[in-house]
Amino acid sequence: MALLLFLSILLRFAPAAAAAAAEPSRPPATALFVLGDSTVSCAASILPLNLTTPSLYAAGPCLFPSARRLLPDLLAAKMGLSSPPLISTLNGTAAAAARGVNFGGQYGDRGIFRMGAVGQQLRLAAETLQLLQLEEGTPQDASAAAAGAVFVLSFGTDAYARLLAHGPAEADAAAPKHGRRGLGRLLANRIARAVSELYEADVRRVAVMGVAPLGCAPRVMWEGRRALDGGRGSCVEEANELIEGYNARLVARLDELRPQLPGADVVFCDVYKGMMEIISNPGRYGLEETREACCGLGPFKATVACLSKEEMVCSAPERHVWWDLYSPTETVDALIANWSWRSPSPQAVGTGSGDDSDVMTTSICSPLSLQQLAGGSLPPV
Ligand SMILES: *[C@@H]1O[C@H](CO)[C@@H](O)[C@H](O)[C@H]1NC(C)=O
Ligand SMILES: *[C@@H]1O[C@H](CO)[C@@H](O)[C@H](O)[C@H]1NC(C)=O
Ligand SMILES: *[C@@H]1O[C@H](CO)[C@@H](O)[C@H](O)[C@H]1NC(C)=O
Repeated sequence: MALLLFLSILLRFAPAAAAAAAEPSRPPATALFVLGDSTVSCAASILPLNLTTPSLYAAGPCLFPSARRLLPDLLAAKMGLSSPPLISTLNGTAAAAARGVNFGGQYGDRGIFRMGAVGQQLRLAAETLQLLQLEEGTPQDASAAAAGAVFVLSFGTDAYARLLAHGPAEADAAAPKHGRRGLGRLLANRIARAVSELYEADVRRVAVMGVAPLGCAPRVMWEGRRALDGGRGSCVEEANELIEGYNARLVARLDELRPQLPGADVVFCDVYKGMMEIISNPGRYGLEETREACCGLGPFKATVACLSKEEMVCSAPERHVWWDLYSPTETVDALIANWSWRSPSPQAVGTGSGDDSDVMTTSICSPLSLQQLAGGSLPPV
């Protein structure tokens, strides 16, 4: 009994103590670089319904800029930086890229899984780092450009959205080599390789975001015909299981990778866990509607995607978990950003009560919170 008590005290305080000891090695981050899909850039919102015109594919401003701020904006604000500009808006000078860049929305191919997007964004990121390093006077300064950078990778959501939109048989047919279960392996390997490639480019701080429970997203709920059951439809389990499989594989790949990348911090943020907490306890966060999108038409507002701000947007987006077919509202993104950022504090861990206390009081990112990864933020703006 005494031993158990001792162990549980040890376990409670050990992570915080370890983090505190490691703190001095991380100077404050000076730039935020983001790679990803529609979770990081409105420019990347590719609707599976094929209702979009080609011009929406081009990297550009959000369809409804005032309606939502995405993860990069929210994290940049926490780091004391302005939102990283989209790569397509830069003028090619190092000055314009010095505080970070959002590479999201740069899609090369139109294949169902769009693995090309990861590679293409990585190439752009490596070129940008080279540009920044060339601008620096000495080799020491040059490596400082990469050392001051925090990279956030957020892929997988669009890939799974497309996969789930196709239905099992079609998805397997569209991906004969790996099928729908194989996608998780493929994508997790690709992301792990991306982290290694960034390491080769001197990047030492990377956060990888997991995929949300899209089995609860309006479009998937509608596809699953949950609208017909009349009552409170629950999430589509098969879809969530696929995504949990991917997230778990990603965690395992990153765990394998860390020992091979000395001096690097590689963080995984469990977006799935955070979203499930919100979906399970919406009232706790001032939310009411967990199933129906804010913007769109039809059952779950999921038969016609969000295309027009005037006619399709709900009156109280802050009450909704989902903004459109697959994307959370800004309120939810802000909660996820807060839970990613927050550092575990010993007091909070000690006073938590109930099963959800870890979500409430510690970061959803491990082994470091994003605040720890960013090395103590610059003064808040
Ligand atoms: C989507 O639209 C484009 C152009 O309108 C068309 O070429 C393409 O075949 C469509 N794709 C699907 C899957 O319907
Ligand atoms: C490029 O953009 C940067 C940052 O916005 C600005 O400071 C610089 O003057 C611009 N350079 C040119 C050549 O337009
Ligand atoms: C996130 O944290 C900020 C700063 O602590 C706070 O002002 C904001 O209300 C939080 N957002 C949500 C949605 O809880």
